[in-house]
Amino acid sequence: MIRTAVIPVAGLGTRFLPATKAIPKEMIPIIDKPTIQYIVEEAVDSGIEHIVFITGRNKSAIANHFDYHPELETHLKEKNKLDELEGIRKLVSRASFSFVRQNEPKGLGHAVLCSRHLIGKDESFAVLLGDDIIDAEVPALKQMIKVHNEKQAPVLALQQVPGDDVSKYGVVAGEYVSETVLKLSGLVEKPEPADAPSDLAIIGRYILSYEIFQYIEDTNVDKTGEIQLTNALRQYRDIFGLLFKGKRYDAGNKLDYLRATVELALEREEFREPFTAYLKNLKL
Ligand code: UTP
Repeated sequence: MIRTAVIPVAGLGTRFLPATKAIPKEMIPIIDKPTIQYIVEEAVDSGIEHIVFITGRNKSAIANHFDYHPELETHLKEKNKLDELEGIRKLVSRASFSFVRQNEPKGLGHAVLCSRHLIGKDESFAVLLGDDIIDAEVPALKQMIKVHNEKQAPVLALQQVPGDDVSKYGVVAGEYVSETVLKLSGLVEKPEPADAPSDLAIIGRYILSYEIFQYIEDTNVDKTGEIQLTNALRQYRDIFGLLFKGKRYDAGNKLDYLRATVELALEREEFREPFTAYLKNLKL
């Protein structure tokens, strides 16, 4: 059973400045929902009961978002805005939330290491990155948990990326054991396109075992002063990748963020007709 999800949110979000000067990047909304809420909903829809946020300075809005707000709730009740009331209460009641501070921005590997004291020694757990929003019929994490249950091993989410983009990701080598699952034999962090072992990139969803903490401790900081999770993952002998079904948006990238806003709006009944009409009328 995968019950715990670690969500690192300690990054500074420099690609979204100036918006992220005073607001955590995870609180920037796509339409009316902060990006972090999409991630938390995917986790709880996949069976997660405990969310561990790895936070940093300036991130208190995230803690407030996942806490009750009695004043607002009383106001919504008085105004008979019962759908809104249910929406905000439901989000908070569906999981328990813990917050751990990462005192130094020493990379994703280090952020994950900060959750060690909250994970059982025999427990496997999920890691979800806030930038990757995955729109899927079956939540991407749920698809991964299924593979984890079958293989009893760590599982990474994979996606095919176009040529030059491999240099932005961790990239894997491996052999297909089914149509969508690979047994991995190599992982390279941000390779030059010519050196990439494949075009399969690691997307921000991981199912890991407790051993990862030792592997992270054994991993040296890279030339940027960060501990890369990909480098620690390399120590696993049995590790699998899943080409998940779903559409992924990199909400940390402005163009993709815009795409997510348009496409997710078009999926909503209330916007579909007027927004489609608006797009048709745009003189492009
Ligand atoms: P990014 O590399 O996207 O960093 O981190 P960032 O600061 O969030 O964004 P930019 O690039 O400056 O715009 C990937 C994920 O790892 C977390 C981030 O919060 C993000 O979810 N992270 C990264 C940490 O929690 N701690 C770190 O030290 C580094």
